[in-house]
Amino acid sequence: MPKVTYIYGDERIEAEVEKGKPLLRIGLDAGVPIEHACGGNGFCTTCMCRITQGMNQLNARNDREENMGVMDDPYRLTCQAEVEGDGDVVVELLDE
Ligand code: FES
Repeated sequence: MPKVTYIYGDERIEAEVEKGKPLLRIGLDAGVPIEHACGGNGFCTTCMCRITQGMNQLNARNDREENMGVMDDPYRLTCQAEVEGDGDVVVELLDE
């Protein structure tokens, strides 16, 4: 079972991937304090992260990410990025 590792500050939390679930939801369910001001709808950028491993395991960027200007690797909106592949992903939350 692939896993997602969330890194923020000195913390590191691993969670099992549930395909079709956004990185935001997987992280919140695992107790990772990811900001999500717009409620996970892709209309802010508070949930933006850096993907340090496994970008090729994720779905393609969607219109909401492009509308918010999140166009370039390694950045993704955790509320819009879902794991589609069978490999591990490492997500680094951005400092506030
Ligand atoms: S929670 Fe607002 S864009 Fe992801």
